[in-house]
Amino acid sequence: MSAYPIIEHEYDVVIVGAGGAGLRAAVGMVEAGLKTAVITKVFPTRSHTVAAQGGVSASLGNMGEDDWRWHMYDTVKGSDWLGDQDAIEYMVREAVPAIIELEHYGLPFSRTEDGKIYQRAFGGMTTRFGEGQAQRTCAAADRTGHAMLHTLYQQALKHHAEFFVEYIALDLLMDPDDGACRGILAWNLDDGTIHRFRAHSTVLATGGYGRAYFSCTSAHTCTGDGNAMILRAGLPLQDMEFVQFHPTGIYGSGCLITEGVRGEGGYLTNSEGERFMERYAPSAKDLASRDVVSRSMTIEIREGRGVGPLKDHIHLHLEHLDPTIIHERLPGIAETAKIFAGVDVTREPIPVLPTVHYNMGGIPTNYHTEVLSPTPEDTDRIVPGLQAIGEAACVSVHGANRLGSNSLLDLVVFGRAAGHRAAATITKGAAHKTLPQHVTDKALTRLDHYRNAKGSLRAAHLRLEMQRIMQNNCAVFRTGEVLQEGYDAMQQVWAKRPEIAVSDRSLVWNSDLVEAMELDNLMSQAVATLAPAVARQESRGAHAREDFPDRDDTNWMKHSTVWVDENGEPTLGDRPVHLYTMSRDVETFPPKKRVY
Ligand code: FUM
Repeated sequence: MSAYPIIEHEYDVVIVGAGGAGLRAAVGMVEAGLKTAVITKVFPTRSHTVAAQGGVSASLGNMGEDDWRWHMYDTVKGSDWLGDQDAIEYMVREAVPAIIELEHYGLPFSRTEDGKIYQRAFGGMTTRFGEGQAQRTCAAADRTGHAMLHTLYQQALKHHAEFFVEYIALDLLMDPDDGACRGILAWNLDDGTIHRFRAHSTVLATGGYGRAYFSCTSAHTCTGDGNAMILRAGLPLQDMEFVQFHPTGIYGSGCLITEGVRGEGGYLTNSEGERFMERYAPSAKDLASRDVVSRSMTIEIREGRGVGPLKDHIHLHLEHLDPTIIHERLPGIAETAKIFAGVDVTREPIPVLPTVHYNMGGIPTNYHTEVLSPTPEDTDRIVPGLQAIGEAACVSVHGANRLGSNSLLDLVVFGRAAGHRAAATITKGAAHKTLPQHVTDKALTRLDHYRNAKGSLRAAHLRLEMQRIMQNNCAVFRTGEVLQEGYDAMQQVWAKRPEIAVSDRSLVWNSDLVEAMELDNLMSQAVATLAPAVARQESRGAHAREDFPDRDDTNWMKHSTVWVDENGEPTLGDRPVHLYTMSRDVETFPPKKRVY
């Protein structure tokens, strides 16, 4: 691979991804005196966190009574008892200092009359262990992710984190001797150079893989590059069958309309004008958790009560709200609805449809953000030198279904935790171990393969085939038969990888090559999603099997793990759910039937 001269870098930490999680981690690492590089394929403030709307949860109690134990209960219940309770306790307790810290960093939160952070209602967030509706979601109007990303980027600049912008991460540099991660190989799109980053810890903050689907709220850049690197390193992903559909994507475009709309009093209706959520979730109604609302909408459509000429979507109303509230708290979605649905929200309902929004599954970690490679003997075995945070990670705090506004929380809490862990475990400026050349060559071989790909199929063509399979065969409702059909079809798509064509051979801003490699990343995750979905014979959270409609705690209260080899062949495993808490300040929440 001598055709690719390599530029060397040595850091204590290299973070891959500059969304909310990556930036928060960078701030903590640099504060701790660690020499830190952040490599990112898009300019930091274009990361997908910018699209988050409704807010970030924390039991501040600014709008009424609240308690981190109630937040913990809601999150455990929302996860359908697949979340690890020690990790959930960590997240909800750390939420309060993490949000206050963001306020001190300058995040422009909306305010109450008396100047406190404004908090709105969100689905599944309750008081007194399910009795009342909590107002727990801290908001900056409906542009909270935008406000958070810019605040964290400014802090990262203030702390002099070093950014490598528009660099594509090619692969992890895994030490064959001890299985440790020693850094990452990356390609600089701007000048075509190849860079080897040596690091004592490599932190994957690479986001989700929503673009495996045809219709999603995710940016086109959400191709789960970190997850795919994990699979290529021979490590597993966890709980990949749990894909969240957000109830209110705009019909047609899939653009997100925040759950904050329902938190501010918006509601859904069917073709008969009925507020149907009252039937499915008599207590929480439109503010039931997302899996419940998405399923209810799908049932309404299937039973012929969808709206529009094709009766294939649902109406979301906010016309009854005071226009001042819309102007002050929901300005972004008013604009989005106008542009993408041609709707004036003060007069007409928004046409909406459940749309892929979030991956509960990802890279297994503990709550210190250390990546796990479970074995039957040690189900919490740590991979040295490797951390994962944000949507890329599966801590697991969301289990089978994430509650709205627990994602921005996950980013900041575990971004922060990554800094704490690195500070506690890394000796600043320590020497880097030498790595055999073949480790770098392996990553370059993949680059070289796609760069010279002379097949007959455009990446876009194959991507569409994959996206249609995922959309049709791994949807809100699933059966074993439909999933198996999807799995088989996906294997056929996988078999066409050698036929991919790349026409641009240069290394400077070769977006043709980037798309081919992103597609390769997505395909491995499509397989990693379908295989455990076929296997899991129960319904839990977002995994709703019509052939197994009940949750089966006896056989299936366990995390699924999946490895995918270079032939697209998955291997399945599992590891136990942590049903114990982190401290003695709270009792574990035993499983029970999940109703809203
Ligand atoms: O609906 C929303 O604003 C999305 C929030 C989330 O996914 O946490």
